[in-house]
Amino acid sequence: MGYAQIIGTGGYLPEKILTNFDLEKIVDTSHEWIVERTGIHQRHIAAAHETSLTMAENAAHVAMNAAGIMPAEIGMIIVATTTPEKTFPSTACLLQQRLGIAGCPAFDLNSTACAGFVYALSIADQFIRQGAINNAMVIGSEVMSRVVDWSDRTISILFGDGAGAVILGAAEQPGVLSTHLHADGTHKDVLFLPNHIGNVTDVDTELYMQMNGKQLFKLSVNILGHLFDETLAANNLKKSDVNWLVPHQANIRIIEAMAKKLDLPMERVAITLNEQGNTSAASIPLALDKAIRDTRIKRGDMLLLEGFGGGLAWGSALIKY
Ligand code: ACO
Repeated sequence: MGYAQIIGTGGYLPEKILTNFDLEKIVDTSHEWIVERTGIHQRHIAAAHETSLTMAENAAHVAMNAAGIMPAEIGMIIVATTTPEKTFPSTACLLQQRLGIAGCPAFDLNSTACAGFVYALSIADQFIRQGAINNAMVIGSEVMSRVVDWSDRTISILFGDGAGAVILGAAEQPGVLSTHLHADGTHKDVLFLPNHIGNVTDVDTELYMQMNGKQLFKLSVNILGHLFDETLAANNLKKSDVNWLVPHQANIRIIEAMAKKLDLPMERVAITLNEQGNTSAASIPLALDKAIRDTRIKRGDMLLLEGFGGGLAWGSALIKY
């Protein structure tokens, strides 16, 4: 059995930027409060014509360019998104049609929220390892701005839009060393996004994301600490073997706690939160793409990716880049 290696990455961010100062005009908040509690300074917001599909397509082309491959060489497309173009066809199928490559499997991971990218990467990794496909396109793409209540200051300050893409290719050397996925539905009420299908009694209610931020904060720090221990133990590695943490970008205080847990200086953590906010399933590939493009992450570096989100669902990937 071989390995799956990252052979190209790409990202797309909408042009429109919403700063904390812009938010001060919408809700009772301040730039200082948002920066101190979250680390976020601004976020990108999709234009009316932009969707998880159009952003995924843009990121996909950048990633294919970086990988030096043509659409016809893609053997599987997975789009992790909480905000799909449609319930069906999947955003992945719509993207496949735009890329003109009918035939390969294509599907969305809709419900793993901010853990979606790591889940998608893990699935693609299994198919490549087994030799079933040579190349997989794994994308996180989100228009979170369409599922937040803009009058709720506890939620609207956190999220942004964007898409990140990774092309995994078959390789003889590692590659993705291991992935670790978990979920715990007992925490279903901590973070959720209702829809009109499950909420038939009150179809006129505006359906926005609901979150217990404090509880989520505590749960995530605890859960991610155990996840790191599990990931390192499975590979017989020490904390000092990890060169880069590429975390889901939810809150700088959570990320700092995770860096501390790994004894990593913050310079060794891929951060986009300050400029992009929380882009849910897109946040990890966007952070990865940025650090690869500006050459901070180099070939041979050991990367620890982690994501957590509604479900709760969480997961990690250890990758020798
Ligand atoms: N501006 C100003 N004040 C605010 C704001 C705001 N935007 N939001 C809340 N406050 C107020 C509250 O009303 C409260 O006031 P009170 O003390 O008078 O009651 C005070 O600030 C403190 O509020 P807390 O909710 O206790 O603030 P906390 O320090 O917990 O920070 C936050 C809130 C930023 C949401 C934090 O809990 C957090 O980041 N949690 C994790 C969230 C997360 O990880 N989400 C995403 C993960 S999954 C996914 O990505 C889909």
